[in-house]
Amino acid sequence: MAKTLYLVVSGAPAPEGVTDLVRRLQSDGYTVVCLSTPLGTRFHDLDELEKLTGEPVRVEYRMPGTGKSLPPADLVVACPLTFNSVNKFANGHADNFAIGLLCEMVGYGVPTVVVPHCKPQLAAHPAFQRSLDTLRGIPAVTLMYDHDAPTNPASPPGNAYTRPSALCRSEAPGGRSRQGPDHPPRRFQCVVRPP
Ligand SMILES: Cc1cc2nc3c(=O)[nH]c(=O)nc-3n(C[C@H](O)[C@H](O)[C@H](O)COP(=O)(O)O)c2cc1C
Repeated sequence: MAKTLYLVVSGAPAPEGVTDLVRRLQSDGYTVVCLSTPLGTRFHDLDELEKLTGEPVRVEYRMPGTGKSLPPADLVVACPLTFNSVNKFANGHADNFAIGLLCEMVGYGVPTVVVPHCKPQLAAHPAFQRSLDTLRGIPAVTLMYDHDAPTNPASPPGNAYTRPSALCRSEAPGGRSRQGPDHPPRRFQCVVRPP
């Protein structure tokens, strides 16, 4: 049975586009449900995401008796996650649905991959460093963060893993990439187990 993946996006540009990430995750067999912070709706193509996933992007908390509940998640990917939302998630500020859901998933122990994306000047703020440390300390959370890695030249410096091609690249056990007829891509391996 297809596994359900919640993809949380926020108010930062994703260098290769979130739609590309959704397609890759779907081709890995996931049923993708997209959620966005309120600011994230200005950065990502919600219509395209709805077309791809067959469901509207969830932005607002659902009031009792309205809408429909989400299928339970097998996995959560938060990409791109802004400086602001990383700090909120780490500190448990559930003032919007997407971040509230990330916080709740910690309680459920659902594996959650966090891909921060902000410029080094913001990343240098002590609050962000503390947030990364907090997130590293949560057993279900995998942090994909390497702001020194090269990014797409068309986008501001940030985290190379925001690029779907980096986040979802094929990984063999032991961390070395290998691909070919004998070694079909195991894209998701990389997402749950960073190199
Ligand atoms: C054009 C533009 C690009 C931005 N890029 C980023 C970014 O890459 N990373 C980041 O942390 N914030 C970025 N911001 C700022 C965030 O959008 C802002 O902090 C916002 O409050 C984030 O809200 P959210 O975390 O609720 O989505 C950008 C803002 C603008 C207008």
